[in-house]
Amino acid sequence: MKIHNYSAGPCILPKSVLKKAAESLVNYNKTGLSIAEMSHRSKDFIAVMEKATSLVKELMNLPEDYEVLFLQGGASMQFYMSALNLIPENGHAAYINTGTWSSKAIKEAKLLGNIHLAASSKEENFNYIPKKIDTPDGASFLHYTSNNTIFGTQFKELPNTDLRLVCDMSSDIMTQEVDVKKYDLIYAGAQKNIGPAGVTLVIVNKNALGKTERSIPSMLDYQVHIEKESMFNTPPCFSIYTAMLTMEWLKELGGVQEIKKRNLAKSKLLYHEIDRNSLFEGTARIEDRSIMNPTFTLKDVTLNEEFLNKSIEAGINGLKGHRSVGGFRASMYNALEIESVHALVEVMKEFEKTKG
Ligand SMILES: Cc1ncc(COP(=O)(O)O)c(C=O)c1O
Repeated sequence: MKIHNYSAGPCILPKSVLKKAAESLVNYNKTGLSIAEMSHRSKDFIAVMEKATSLVKELMNLPEDYEVLFLQGGASMQFYMSALNLIPENGHAAYINTGTWSSKAIKEAKLLGNIHLAASSKEENFNYIPKKIDTPDGASFLHYTSNNTIFGTQFKELPNTDLRLVCDMSSDIMTQEVDVKKYDLIYAGAQKNIGPAGVTLVIVNKNALGKTERSIPSMLDYQVHIEKESMFNTPPCFSIYTAMLTMEWLKELGGVQEIKKRNLAKSKLLYHEIDRNSLFEGTARIEDRSIMNPTFTLKDVTLNEEFLNKSIEAGINGLKGHRSVGGFRASMYNALEIESVHALVEVMKEFEKTKG
């Protein structure tokens, strides 16, 4: 039976990428060595790193002054590292709180500077994106989370501010075009749209660095990682290689413009069924609904478990919502095909027939 993988992350990757990665895990490019057992200083792996870097530059259309880094520690490490590198001693920055991940970013940044809450949707359990933003003078940047993986909301426009932007794009990077020059920093754990877990993509504006007047430990210093081309310490070679393959797949498909069309078609299909079906309702405000992680529930929540079991019987994996929202979450990352959304819609229709 075909499994339709709706996991929130780690999540579905293109089958062709997994196949190639599996081959390379045994014998990379006929070298007789696994990609996981060769030196990161070898000619072969350096070529992988260079290719991965140039694919990020190309797919995201990066301006000149931006550097690409492949780091470890997840997006969670970036919550602290970004503030450490970008907020000066005694400085301040503004943050928008749109959910669990933004809250965590705020908590870490507070260890380093004066953090101003520019907006929050906490009072409605983060079911919308705040539009009115209040930022203090002289803030180093405005931080936001572009897609809220848990609550199923997404910024449809950039936050309305003159401040430089810093963004956690973990769950919607490379799903649409981004005007990178507005940002000093973009970071994303790879394990949704870019590749397997274990590597974090960081895109940083070189001109924003070196202004904090504090000493930064080497491992947490973007400047050090830039100088060492993401090889200050041993990089997660296999994750970077698989991310490179995933980006090649995306490029081949037509890049972010093409994947955006496909993602919009998938989300339109599912949201249409959520709104049409008499048994279901969405949990996020309609105008702020995420293209990546639609969240929804049965109006009669006592039926949630029965529906979840029906979805599992139909080969649908990972539909259970996060405990802070309940209900269901259909994570529909780049590699999920529309055929999988048809399969989910079919289960919803069937359920309506038996219960409606
Ligand atoms: C938007 C967002 N930010 C941060 C994280 C945390 O990422 P990591 O586990 O790579 O630290 C996640 C994980 O799901 C996420 O969805």
